[in-house]
Amino acid sequence: MELMRIENLCKTYGKGENEVKALDNVSFTVPKGQMLAVIGPSGSGKSTMLHILGGVDRPTSGKVFLDEQDVFAQDNKNLAIFRRRQVGLIYQFYNLIPVLDAEENITLPLIMDGRKPDSKHLDELLELLQLKERRHHLPSQLSGGQQQRVSIGRALFTSPGVILADEPTGNLDSKNSAEIIKLLRKSNRDYEQTMIIITHDENIALQCDRIITLSDGKIVSDKLNDIK
Ligand SMILES: Nc1ncnc2c1ncn2[C@@H]1O[C@H](COP(=O)(O)OP(=O)(O)OP(=O)(O)O)[C@@H](O)[C@H]1O
Ligand SMILES: [Mg+2]
Repeated sequence: MELMRIENLCKTYGKGENEVKALDNVSFTVPKGQMLAVIGPSGSGKSTMLHILGGVDRPTSGKVFLDEQDVFAQDNKNLAIFRRRQVGLIYQFYNLIPVLDAEENITLPLIMDGRKPDSKHLDELLELLQLKERRHHLPSQLSGGQQQRVSIGRALFTSPGVILADEPTGNLDSKNSAEIIKLLRKSNRDYEQTMIIITHDENIALQCDRIITLSDGKIVSDKLNDIK
């Protein structure tokens, strides 16, 4: 079943001679439950695309549909609700709130949505992310890898249908990154959660169901992996 449909997505930054075509007519569909890797050189438009799919940035032209809903046809209020309920975005540079501790950063989107965090669910997630002893530390008191794990926890905690992850293991060593991918895969299988993961790590890309390669804002390859 098709969950996402991306149609002729274009994103242009700047004007005149400073104009950069970060996305140039990108179209593809994603079935529900797919774990999709996006790879490509630095500057090829990966983060730009992910931010648009997550509704945090608007395309210059083109459309994104989730469950047949035209994401950018919504007004700002409904787009904010879409961001809180339907997608979980893991940012390349974490975007944690500096004055909130690890636990508060993880639970914030749920609280902003007027829901009450379940303390058992929170404990389990902190355990899985190996953050139990760090739950009351501020981002500035955490290592890069720990901050990365907090940002992963924040995206997973609301159990959205779609997880969008920008280099989720970019700051982790190989052991930690294997564990994070295992965790994402488990969440993908257990909850039929659809995932789009940007990565520079070929090993991670090969563990996904499909690999899309971007170059200069265009899709240059789209391949299914043979995953058991
Ligand atoms: N806010 C912005 N203003 C102007 N240009 C931008 C902006 N954001 C991105 N760009 C440009 O758009 C292009 C795509 O950037 P993007 O961040 O999507 O690349 P990326 O594939 O994620 O790269 P990396 O692997 O280094 O993270 C780049 O040429 C970048 O310089
Ligand atoms: Mg990027």
